[in-house]
Amino acid sequence: MTSSGSEAVTGALRLARAATGRDVIVKTIGGYHGAIDVLLVQAGSGATTLGVPDSPGVPASVTANTRLVPYNDLAAAEAALEGAAAIIIEPVAGNMGVVLPEPGYLEGLRAACDRTGALLILDEVITGFRIARGGAQERFGVRADLTCFGKIIGGGLPVGAFGGRADVMAELAPEGPCYQAGTLSGNPLATAAGLAVLCELAAPGVYERLEASGAALEDAIRASGAPVAINRIGSMLTPFFAPGPVRDYASATTADTAAYGAFARELLARGVYPAPSQFECWFTGLTHTDAELAHTRRALAEAAEAIAG
Ligand SMILES: Cc1ncc(COP(=O)(O)O)c(C=O)c1O
Repeated sequence: MTSSGSEAVTGALRLARAATGRDVIVKTIGGYHGAIDVLLVQAGSGATTLGVPDSPGVPASVTANTRLVPYNDLAAAEAALEGAAAIIIEPVAGNMGVVLPEPGYLEGLRAACDRTGALLILDEVITGFRIARGGAQERFGVRADLTCFGKIIGGGLPVGAFGGRADVMAELAPEGPCYQAGTLSGNPLATAAGLAVLCELAAPGVYERLEASGAALEDAIRASGAPVAINRIGSMLTPFFAPGPVRDYASATTADTAAYGAFARELLARGVYPAPSQFECWFTGLTHTDAELAHTRRALAEAAEAIAG
């Protein structure tokens, strides 16, 4: 247990390096895994929104062992994994906006890791417990060597966690030599909140409801006539103000961010709170009922009309 997603990722990277005896970490361009020095290279989320995907303050020596590959480019990952300790990836990207893995991509990464001896680290800080109770790994049937969690696992309080293969976890202190610790890691208050949420998510019909509200939101955006390409899985989606399908960082960043901003402000004015950036996800939650969805549908139609005029 840790106190944040960033700490979970930091621990998982250290453990992967300790377990493999290798240094290189592969990451995807536009992937975001927390404000972690070694991964603040071509990072998505706020870093992309603010135009600082490579943050000042990170010495080149710190990122010398970080290798970048485009999302959904299996051949590039296969080449980059030679001699690497691990690849860390969001199984569904959520920090360049939502970008889905193409069929065979995650399976191909799994096979490439098995071939090269690198570890597959799936960062399920967003997808964990959102797209299925078993996260992306349940949804896509691909098993990670190490998995990172944050956000939902804390039920609104600060919790993160990482875990995985028993032989790899055995390298972690106190059982093994790879050190990790945190004063508030796994503290009872936050952990109880997370546990309560995970129990709620076990109720029948929860993921069907999330699928239905996500589908209703997608349908409402399409019906609004806003000129967007929509990527969605379950209750997470992004409408991209982009001309074509969005499958990686290069296509995501063709989006017209000014148009997105105008649309988002029109929605805000109507009491609907979309993601504050083109490069973040929109989520529906279990508290959204037909009433909120109907209100949102009207607001979307008016917002699309306002930006068209
Ligand atoms: C996929 C992913 N990984 C890791 C993190 C970092 O988590 P935290 O902000 O809890 O440190 C985030 C945060 O947005 C995230 O989206």
